[in-house]
Amino acid sequence: MPGPNRILLAIQGFHPHRWYELLSASRPVTLEPDGPADPSIDYAVVWKHRPGVLASLPNLKAIFSIGAGVDHILNDPAVPDVPIVRVVAQNLTQYMVEYVVWRVLDHHRQGALYRTQQPRKIWHEPLQPPADEIAVGIMGLGQLGRAAAKALLALGFKVNGWSRTAHTMEGVAIWHGENELTPFLNATDILVALLPLTPATRGIVDYSLLGKLNRENGLGGAFFVNAGRGQLQKDADIARALDDGLIKEASLDVFETEPLPETSPLWTHPKVFVTPHSAASSDPVHLVPLMLEQMDALERGERLTNIVDRKAGY
Ligand code: GLV
Repeated sequence: MPGPNRILLAIQGFHPHRWYELLSASRPVTLEPDGPADPSIDYAVVWKHRPGVLASLPNLKAIFSIGAGVDHILNDPAVPDVPIVRVVAQNLTQYMVEYVVWRVLDHHRQGALYRTQQPRKIWHEPLQPPADEIAVGIMGLGQLGRAAAKALLALGFKVNGWSRTAHTMEGVAIWHGENELTPFLNATDILVALLPLTPATRGIVDYSLLGKLNRENGLGGAFFVNAGRGQLQKDADIARALDDGLIKEASLDVFETEPLPETSPLWTHPKVFVTPHSAASSDPVHLVPLMLEQMDALERGERLTNIVDRKAGY
């Protein structure tokens, strides 16, 4: 009778303490850097693991990503050929929807303007277009993009979507593929990036892309919100697009380099709202039980769900 599954926990960038505590309540857990070549390890739970460490585990059955994005796993050229499972969780989706709705509403209701008026005691009411005159365009129509689209529709916004492959969603105008990117952008006032980071999407949000957004609207400009991955965008191009008026404001949760370097002009740019990659943090209290359920299912001979398509890169 084999013992309970052993898990390798390989995390960089934050403290693994809470994940360790919750996983080890029901399974033996080995904390990386111990573990390489350990034949008793069945599963790996990872966030930005050290490249190569997974390849050394002879009996690894599956890899679980701590985040919704899996670029941090696929970056490792030696990632073994076992299923990679990404996070799909109500709790994480909810956080992301909150962030997107918060930032879209702040741009739509001209929060930045009011924040400049208040310290100067200015009592001025700007023209306020209704939500149904503003189109929010979501790049990436996966779990998170679709949930955000649904919430924005409920608020009365026009919602556009763009994705790699064809999708349909009631109430959402959808464009897909490279050829349809420009018409999607031309029809969008507030752009929200929720794409996975893959070789095809790296650096996609550059100066020229931002220049294609619609600026002829009741808000007097276009807006950019990035809640996906920093490397989807070119930080310098965003600053330049703001300074040249291609976009009016940006809300950025993610950056090319994280933490955002102190020398980045984005920190102090008056038209940029910065958060520290906190739009939708992974909470182990909600995610560990989902991972353990999946491990149990595999042990029973059932199929894993939310498996990454390696060729697509997400
Ligand atoms: C966070 O960035 C995630 O991938 O969930």
